[in-house]
Amino acid sequence: MQAVESSPMNRPVKSIVVLTGAGISAESGIATFRASDGLWENHRIEDVATPEGFARNPQLVHHFYNQRRQQLLQDHIRPNAAHMALARLEHEFPGEVLLVTQNVDNLHERAGSRKMLHMHGELLKMRCQESNLVFDLREDIGFDSVCRCCQTIGNLRPHIVWFGEMPFHMPQITRALESCDLFMSIGTSGNVYPASGFYQIARSRHAHTVELNLEQTASSFEEHICGPASEIVPEFVERVLCSVQSP
Ligand code: OAD
Repeated sequence: MQAVESSPMNRPVKSIVVLTGAGISAESGIATFRASDGLWENHRIEDVATPEGFARNPQLVHHFYNQRRQQLLQDHIRPNAAHMALARLEHEFPGEVLLVTQNVDNLHERAGSRKMLHMHGELLKMRCQESNLVFDLREDIGFDSVCRCCQTIGNLRPHIVWFGEMPFHMPQITRALESCDLFMSIGTSGNVYPASGFYQIARSRHAHTVELNLEQTASSFEEHICGPASEIVPEFVERVLCSVQSP
């Protein structure tokens, strides 16, 4: 682990907001988005992660998310030590902890996190475009799948926030950012708005801001800790829990 920049948390911490991105699930075997050439599992973002792409070719988009869902359900895809450490933080920290994830996998829940929000949706859910009702989903769906609520063909879509759409839970996330004392950003490149601006909201309210990532991104956090999430997140959680225990 390499501490690029370090500053002590010299403020009492009562409320924490944690933001996670694809990097926290990388060591569990799920590919990040911008790992190499900007393609997501060999597809252009415009084709598989926009409402226009879905309107143009719904079969391709369904097939793409069916593949991601089936990958997530494979036995070897499991939460890693970083997911576990955040669940521990939620259960052992005496104040408020809100976990906000950009990830559409279910690894945080499987690690034991409960107070969490999926701002970009969930792979294991689908939505009726007519009623907006959301259903659990483990099997494949296609353009010809019949919706469980309206019994119509062609109304189902993945419960995923695509580019150009409003992320979920923004009022609740903004309120938590405005009142937190510590903001942790883990495994996200900071390329996608509005999550990329969360640290600025927290900082404007005098929270301590920390980035934990394989490499330092362009965003100016007060503290940057570089390394694999499975190592640096458990260490940082230990530090936070020790700091509230010591007088
Ligand atoms: P990215 O793929 O853009 O960034 C992943 C970040 O994780 C990079 O900064 C990597 O350096 C870092 N990283 C990789 N492996 C790591 C490890 N083992 N430990 C720690 N850090 C590691 O993913 P996101 O920032 O999450 O949106 O992308 C944000 C959004 O863009 C996604 O939610 C998705 C995508 O388009 C939607 O699907 C709506």
